[in-house]
Amino acid sequence: KSLTIGLIPADGIGKEVIPAARTAIEAVGSDIPPPKFVDLVAGFEHFTRKGVALPEETIEVLKNDCDCALFGSVSSPSKKVAGYSSPIVALRKILDLYANIRPVVSVSPDPSKPSAVDMIVVRENTECLYVKQEQQTVGEHGREARATRLITERASTRIGQMAFELALARPRKHLTVIHKSNVLSITDGLFRESVRAIPAKEPRFEAVTVAEQLVDSAVYRLFREPQIYDVMVAPNLYGDILSDAAAALVGSLGVVPSVNAGDSFVMGEPVHGSAPDIYGQGIANPVASIRSAALMLRHLGYTQAADRIDNAVDSVLREGQFLTPDLNGSAKTVQVADAIVKRI
Ligand code: NAI
Ligand code: MG
Repeated sequence: KSLTIGLIPADGIGKEVIPAARTAIEAVGSDIPPPKFVDLVAGFEHFTRKGVALPEETIEVLKNDCDCALFGSVSSPSKKVAGYSSPIVALRKILDLYANIRPVVSVSPDPSKPSAVDMIVVRENTECLYVKQEQQTVGEHGREARATRLITERASTRIGQMAFELALARPRKHLTVIHKSNVLSITDGLFRESVRAIPAKEPRFEAVTVAEQLVDSAVYRLFREPQIYDVMVAPNLYGDILSDAAAALVGSLGVVPSVNAGDSFVMGEPVHGSAPDIYGQGIANPVASIRSAALMLRHLGYTQAADRIDNAVDSVLREGQFLTPDLNGSAKTVQVADAIVKRI
C-alpha cells in the first residue's frame, strides 16, 4: 500500500516551500509506506486566471484519493473581491478539519537542555468570526457593518477534547483556556464552559491541570513568561492571533508548523501566509512546511518518520550554517531543504 499525499502549494511562497516539504517526506524512506504525491490547485492566483479559488476537482481528489495533504499558503486580498473566498477556510470546513494544532517550540542550543519555549496552540478551526457572515447596511449615521460570531457547544467541546488529549500526552499536562468572557459572556462564556465541563465527563482528563487566561493578558504573559504555557486552547480568531504572536518568540513565522485535523483527515500547513514581500527570491524558510509534514505524519501514527524529520530540522537550526534571512542567515530555501534532507 502507498501513502497518497495531496500537495496544494497555492500562492506565493507556498510554491517554494511545499516542494521542500515533499523532498523531506521522500527522504524518510521505509519509515512510511511509499509516498504517492498528487499535485492539486487552489488559491487566489488560480482564481484570477480561472475564476475559481477552490476547484471541485481538488476537493474530490482530497476526499476520495488522498490519505492526507499539505497546503502552502493563499494570498487573500484585504478588499472584498466578488466571487472570491479563501480556499483554506473553505477546505477546513468542507473536510471538517475542526482542530488547528500549532506547536511553537524553540530549539535549545544544547540538545540535552529543554527548550525555552515549548507550547501548543490549539485553535478551533470552523467557527467564531470565520463563519464570515458579515453585512453592511446604512443606518442613521452612515454605514454600519456587522459580523456574526458563532460559538457552539459541539465545536467547543470537540476542540476542548482534542486539547485535553494533547495536554495529557505531554510531560506537564497543563491546559490554559483562552477567552474573553468578561466581555463576551455569551459566546466566550459558552466556549469556556464547554471546555471546562470535559474532565467531569472524561475522568482520565482529571490528570490535566486547567488554567484560564483572558486573551489580551494571555498575549502579555506570552511575551513576558512564555514558559507558563503548555497547551492553550482558543476560539478561532484568538488562536490565529496567539499563534502568530508566539511565532515571534521562536525567531520567525517561517519555522512554525500546523496541522488541520478532523476525525478522518489531516492536512499539514505552515502557519505563515504567502509572504508577497519575499516571494520569488527563493529565500522563504522551508522549516515551517517541513515541520508541518512531520506533524502530519505524526498525526497519522508515523512517529519514527516524524522524529527523524524533526531531529534533522533541529540539528540544522542548531548548527546555524544553513539559515534563511528571516533567521539572519543567507541561505536559500533549497539549501536549507537540502541540508535537512541530508540529515534525515
Ligand atoms: P505572512 O505570514 O505572509 O508574512 C508575514 C511576515 O513574515 C512577512 O514579512 C514575511 O516575509 C515573513 N514570513 C512569512 N513566512 C515566511 C517564511 N516561510 N520565510 C521567511 N519569512 C516569512 O503574513 P501577511 O504578510 O500578513 O499576509 C500575506 C498574505 O498571506 C495575505 O494575502 C494573507 O491573506 C495571506 N495569509 C494566508 C494564510 C494562509 O494561507 N493560511 C495565513 C496568513 C496570511
Ligand atoms: Mg494567521
